[in-house]
Amino acid sequence: MPNTSAVTTLIVALGERAYPIHIGAGQLAVVLAEIERLLAEKRRVFVVTTPALRKIYSAFFQKTTEIGVIVHETSCDGEQAKRVGELECIWEALAAARLDRTSVVVAFGGGVIGDLAGFSAASYLRGIDFIQVPTTLLAMVDSAVGGKTGINLAAGKNLAGAFHQPQAVFSDMAVLGTLPAREFAAGMGEVIKYGMLGDRVLFDKLVAAGPLHWQHPLLPEIIRRCCEIKAEIVRDDEHETAKDGGRALLNLGHTFAHAIENVAGYGEYLHGEAVAIGLMLAARLSVSLDLLDAANLAPIEALISANNLPVRLRASLPMDDLLEAMRRDKKVRHGALRFVVMKSIGLAETLSVDDESLVRRIWASVMPG
Ligand code: NAD
Ligand code: GLY
Repeated sequence: MPNTSAVTTLIVALGERAYPIHIGAGQLAVVLAEIERLLAEKRRVFVVTTPALRKIYSAFFQKTTEIGVIVHETSCDGEQAKRVGELECIWEALAAARLDRTSVVVAFGGGVIGDLAGFSAASYLRGIDFIQVPTTLLAMVDSAVGGKTGINLAAGKNLAGAFHQPQAVFSDMAVLGTLPAREFAAGMGEVIKYGMLGDRVLFDKLVAAGPLHWQHPLLPEIIRRCCEIKAEIVRDDEHETAKDGGRALLNLGHTFAHAIENVAGYGEYLHGEAVAIGLMLAARLSVSLDLLDAANLAPIEALISANNLPVRLRASLPMDDLLEAMRRDKKVRHGALRFVVMKSIGLAETLSVDDESLVRRIWASVMPG
């Protein structure tokens, strides 16, 4: 058995849909044991991953295929894979293998695989079980938790999808050892987001820790804290229906970030990089609206930069296109742009803003040159 002494578990408390998040050492071996348990119950198991991850974790995948698991590789990697054509391939593969309502999809990868495979599980036969095995920092702290699944449309990010909670999340710290540094940094964008929206102590801890890396002794507890914050918010507003605040708070920086990703072209900025610029913009917007003390801007910028993330765009993007992309965002309500703003570090709220010239001035602050 794997040494699981350094494992921490928390529960996403959603009544009959409650599930555990396990974080720590040896989780891939635990996943294999869980798959064996499912197979022993005569349930079929279908793992979705990327070609690159299948190569890197060849021993894991060899073992899964030996015991009768179907492994499905996406045709491409990164944000480009989160599209309807790729989803259709998974649906067809699930049907060709005659998976039934008792079958289980395992998402083995980053947020792209989690969102895509999760949506296939949410929609195949009107919904079958799935398990998240996040392999990026971003997926461990954010996308694997909370049950949002989906794909992008040409019109915008995540415009088609479903809420579908996983049965369990297994985060193995060791997989972060093969994650490229740029991807690790992108995950830190979401980690910093949690400190900014909900936990001043976490923010200060991140400042004191300096740039984090996959073997940093504080990383497991930081991942756990991010999951705890998300789990609490999701427990209270699972389907993001709260009139104010609620789950929408998790979108701090994201109204800007989604516009950057859409206008620059998916993949040009990693999601976490766009979020980092979005966090800067959300903080500046909060200062401009007299909600946040301007003295907070320097420490926020310093923390983002210290974690090797951008605080401005690499190349100018057309302002009208950015505004148009924001208007198409899911968060728009009755035509007004909707933002998450900060009252202090660790305290956020949602707000509609219809002053377009202000939003344009804020965007101008991250244009290069
Ligand atoms: P990703 O899934 O594209 O993974 C990043 C890259 O790292 C990929 O090339 C992948 O193959 C590679 N990779 C993954 N794990 C690896 C490992 N252990 N070793 C080596 N390479 C590895 O990107 P991401 O940043 O994990 O996720 C971004 C996506 O998550 C976006 O589509 C975003 O919209 C979504 N997201 C969803 C939610 C949600 O609540 N559902 C929340 C936040 C973000
Ligand atoms: N990443 C935002 C959410 O899960 O609601």
